[in-house]
Amino acid sequence: MDEQTTKRDLIRVCHLMYERSYVVSSDGNVSVRLDDGRILATPTMTSKGRMTEDLIAITDLEGRALNDRKASSELAMHLLIYRERPDVKAVCHAHPPHGTAFAVAGLAIDQPILSEVILTLGCVPLAAYGTPSTDELTREMQPFVKHHNALLMANHGAVAYGADLWQAWDRLETLEHTAKIAILSRVLGGSKNLPADAIEKLINVREAAGYLGESARGQACGYLRESPVENGAGKISLTREELVELLSQAVNGK
Ligand code: 13P
Repeated sequence: MDEQTTKRDLIRVCHLMYERSYVVSSDGNVSVRLDDGRILATPTMTSKGRMTEDLIAITDLEGRALNDRKASSELAMHLLIYRERPDVKAVCHAHPPHGTAFAVAGLAIDQPILSEVILTLGCVPLAAYGTPSTDELTREMQPFVKHHNALLMANHGAVAYGADLWQAWDRLETLEHTAKIAILSRVLGGSKNLPADAIEKLINVREAAGYLGESARGQACGYLRESPVENGAGKISLTREELVELLSQAVNGK
């Protein structure tokens, strides 16, 4: 896609974010990695509802400015995702109210309650709190980036990413919609999880259709318990939560 069309789409996503109340004031940031490796990013402290193409900042992959706009203070978060995921070409960070309510309550969006979400998004883990715009935040996010397509950041918000801007946006939308349904179902007396055999079938469908790569099998969510252990050569891998749990059990002598 040419740079001009990408800039136009970036502005459309910013406006959608603002119109849907996924952000208020100058919250949130959006970026795209162009084919030549340059990054188009929203500028810091600018309302996404009033974004125009001339305000877009351009940087290299180290975050060095290539025009006279100051890129988002959260650019390091975007660059981490681009480094960890060569397949990712766009990142959307926002504070959508229902998703962010999960992040504030200290909850991941990881229950198997909606078939479509297992197919197209997978689990959304919760990264521990880190001060926005600092290494603390990227350090907490880093272990999750490889296997997930969206993350919650404790007491902060959400980020979603994808092979292009619209996939990143769609994933952010799915995250927020899922969080909203989860909250509403709790008000109605609680959600019912899909049974294990239904989940297995959905995962087979998603792998056969290529909705999510095989790396999604390593996601940090309870219903993929069987996936973190790899057979062969005595090698095992664990999700971050499982490792922390194992270590705390060892320390507490359980
Ligand atoms: P920027 O205005 O620097 O992009 O920061 C907004 C934000 O949402 C921080 O989390």
